[in-house]
Amino acid sequence: MISEITSYNKIRIAQQFSRAANTYNSAADVQLDIAFDAMKYVSYHYKKGLDIGCGTGRISRHLATRCDTLVAMDLAFGMLTYAKQINLSDDLSICWLQGDADFLPMADNSVDMVFSSMMLQWSDNQDAVMSEITRVMACGANAVLAIMCDGSFNQLNDSWQTIDNQRHVNHFSNAQTWLDAAKSQGLKVTMQEKQYVTWHQNIRQLLSSIKSIGANVLLTSQDSVGQSKCDSKNVLNRHTLQHLETFYQQKYAENMQLPLTYQVCFLYCSK
Ligand SMILES: C[S@@+](CC[C@H](N)C(=O)[O-])C[C@H]1O[C@@H](n2cnc3c(N)ncnc32)[C@H](O)[C@@H]1O
Repeated sequence: MISEITSYNKIRIAQQFSRAANTYNSAADVQLDIAFDAMKYVSYHYKKGLDIGCGTGRISRHLATRCDTLVAMDLAFGMLTYAKQINLSDDLSICWLQGDADFLPMADNSVDMVFSSMMLQWSDNQDAVMSEITRVMACGANAVLAIMCDGSFNQLNDSWQTIDNQRHVNHFSNAQTWLDAAKSQGLKVTMQEKQYVTWHQNIRQLLSSIKSIGANVLLTSQDSVGQSKCDSKNVLNRHTLQHLETFYQQKYAENMQLPLTYQVCFLYCSK
């Protein structure tokens, strides 16, 4: 059953990524590096592939050259609209589909390769989403999954803690939880972790790097129902921003630049 919290979060995720569709490609350099690192694991040619959380489709185009047909799926309608437009002239066999990773709109055992980069951390439940991925994988299929995990945005989270004890940064599950979720589905899995760091001139630029890719949705949990529907506490005033910047600078700056860490686990699975 889909809870009210889940669907409320999903609507906000879809809206925010849809809004960011036009700015995503120019702002998402680190996401591109991560996706290309993940693509190194896609080593065969497949009959049917699935790209879950395809965003603007810039990775889907590369994946499509490795598949007879590729289903490129995303929750955000705005992302798909943008992806279809910019990939219109390509002579690639891509089927664009709106859908939710937690409830894949695909038949059992229907794909040979599942790819997903920087999306699964938005899922509600690791076991449920891994069960869905396993369900749609045909026998012998591969899955290549790059997932943001624990340790990501730690400097930002730490800096916020000096201001109040509210949650301002989403919780990221640890890599071991993702590994266990994949293994519990009976998949054969190998995992690697890698850290990426982006550098920013100031806190405004750092926060806007997150907003420009649509990842600025703070997910609502059971214990904060009602609070987050009123977003006034999340409004950033100049004083708060200054405090955040000062702490961040003092604790983390190198050569006057502010680092932001993306901790990513890569799961390579076969069924
Ligand atoms: C950070 S972007 C990554 C896009 C692309 N994979 C890339 O590497 O550039 C995350 C994407 O996941 C999508 N997304 C978030 N939650 C989703 C869900 N439950 N099901 C499918 N897509 C989802 C967002 O709409 C967004 O386009």
